[in-house]
Amino acid sequence: MELTFYGHACFLVKIGATKILFDPFISPNPLAKDIDINSIEADYIFVSHGHEDHVADLLSLAKQTQATVVSNFELITWLGKQGYEKVHPMNFGTRTFDFGTVHFVPAAHSSALPDGSYGGNPGGFIFKTEAGNFYYTGDTSLTAEFTMIPYYGTLDAAIMPVGGNFTMNVEEALIASNIIKCDNIVGVHYDTFGYIVIDKTASIQQFKDAGKTLRLPEIGATITL
Ligand code: NI
Ligand code: MN
Repeated sequence: MELTFYGHACFLVKIGATKILFDPFISPNPLAKDIDINSIEADYIFVSHGHEDHVADLLSLAKQTQATVVSNFELITWLGKQGYEKVHPMNFGTRTFDFGTVHFVPAAHSSALPDGSYGGNPGGFIFKTEAGNFYYTGDTSLTAEFTMIPYYGTLDAAIMPVGGNFTMNVEEALIASNIIKCDNIVGVHYDTFGYIVIDKTASIQQFKDAGKTLRLPEIGATITL
């Protein structure tokens, strides 16, 4: 599995030949100005919740890629009202797709859409595939929901916010990694706004001191999960 980071909480995971984009927010992000949005291809777009910093480029990238958009029922309904119909609504639960099985699980956050309408429950996604298993927590605080994650199976990697203020910070992400039993973490949702600027070197060191790995890929970089 390969992950390409597009800044903030937007990334693409390649599972075999399947390209899965998460939380498209690129064009409003000055840190991601070098990303060529027009070159992005995706078979699926998974959306964790309705906030602007997760859906800003959803409609345009859905149209561009003709991907199947997967998210909570209310967000999918909102997208449908804008004319995009290649969708798969879920609520917290499990669904098997052609690339593997997805468990949509709760996050401790909020979710309103950019027009102020209800964005459905915020969530995260556990992906179980033949190439490996990973968990994208979505925007969330440290939450008791994490205690359920090990029951879904073993994780090879987890992608979680580390910027604090709106989500977990680095210390909380470290605790989360203990609870979900995964030592291989990719950090997202930091540095984009003044509220969430972190010390990258110190953050990576904190994980190292705990015998774990925190990776903070450069925007545009591709890493092996
Ligand atoms: Ni949010
Ligand atoms: Mn966010």
